[in-house]
Amino acid sequence: MSEVKNYKNDFPLLQRKMHDKQIVYLDNGATTQKPEKVIQAMCSYYGGCNANPHRGAYELSVQATDIYENARAKVQKFINAQHSHEIIFTKNATESLNLIAYSYGMSHIQAGDEVVIAISEHHSNLVPWQQICQLKGAVLKYIYLEMDGNLSQEDIASKITEKTKIVAVAQVSNVLGLVNPVAEIARKAHSVGAIMVVDGSQSVPHMAVDVQALDADFFVFSGHKMLSPMGIGVLYGKERLLNDMPPFLMGGDMIDYVEEQQTEFAPLPAKFEAGTQNVGGAAGLIAAIEYLEQVGFDYIEQVEKDLVNYALPKLKAMPYIELYGCDSTLYNKTGIITFNVQDVHPHDVATILDAQGVAIRAGHHCAQPLMQYLGQNATCRASFYFYNTREDVDRWLEALSKVRGVLGYAE
Ligand code: ALA
Repeated sequence: MSEVKNYKNDFPLLQRKMHDKQIVYLDNGATTQKPEKVIQAMCSYYGGCNANPHRGAYELSVQATDIYENARAKVQKFINAQHSHEIIFTKNATESLNLIAYSYGMSHIQAGDEVVIAISEHHSNLVPWQQICQLKGAVLKYIYLEMDGNLSQEDIASKITEKTKIVAVAQVSNVLGLVNPVAEIARKAHSVGAIMVVDGSQSVPHMAVDVQALDADFFVFSGHKMLSPMGIGVLYGKERLLNDMPPFLMGGDMIDYVEEQQTEFAPLPAKFEAGTQNVGGAAGLIAAIEYLEQVGFDYIEQVEKDLVNYALPKLKAMPYIELYGCDSTLYNKTGIITFNVQDVHPHDVATILDAQGVAIRAGHHCAQPLMQYLGQNATCRASFYFYNTREDVDRWLEALSKVRGVLGYAE
């Protein structure tokens, strides 16, 4: 791996202590920390040119509009969308997926149609489809997993059929951290006339993404998992599909003309952006993308792989650790390690690690059907980002080695 750089100094929160110990933050799958540049970009917006965009005929509002529309152009280039109006700003990936389900899904799915998703989906890419299928009398089908945690090739081949109207799969599972073959699944979906929805929440922050190369019809992600503030998310959709969809939320700024009994909606992207937009979030998102471009995705992938390769043999040497999606032959593993400590509830593991200053996530990870499939109620998850170091892994593993002892089990 090329030279390791110290990015931690750019992140104010990573300087703080937790329970009198220097914090080791390993819950980047849930949200990432924010560099000073992103915090400054938001402060500059609120301190320098806060106004309601698209509405005011005065300079401040024009400046706010410029920031907001620059963010759209920035995101367009970042994921290589063909047009900037194919980028719709939402609150987060969850809202983006609900928008697709309730707008595209409700208007395109009929009784007897099928929607295909993976068993490893986050609830955000599962519950909306489950509810739409129930409302429409459609069938929700699942792609299950191979023994190593990858999606079953046999299921990809057999479950997507002429009846399938929508296929919705995450590019990276938030629990197993495995990259799914979404371009290949999109080809299969398109071959039967279905559309392909990709949840990029756990991929966009960690790898270069090109929505045209993937041929995704819709692609969603959250800003807060990629250094941006919470409250700004992205829905990318192909122009042709977005134009053909009804609005999801109604109100200000998404209309051309309103009369007492009817409304003419605005063209893209405004049609899907009712209400006052999150310009502060957009300012932060611009700074976050610029920061990530400076770090570079080659470097980000290298660091995360190095941390996984460093941690896994040590974890495998602990006889009481159970790992999920961590087969050593996996070539498509990202910086997420999901595990359990024998006899110890994941919440107890997380609490004991927290006392050592180490933050991980424990629970069902908003993926209960996957937990049921794995035969677990809950798991622990450590998720890395480029600012994490081998020293962080050492601190985590040292704390982990004490967990069973704290609870009176043999270590
Ligand atoms: N979706 C986030 C996670 O996986 C919250 O932790």
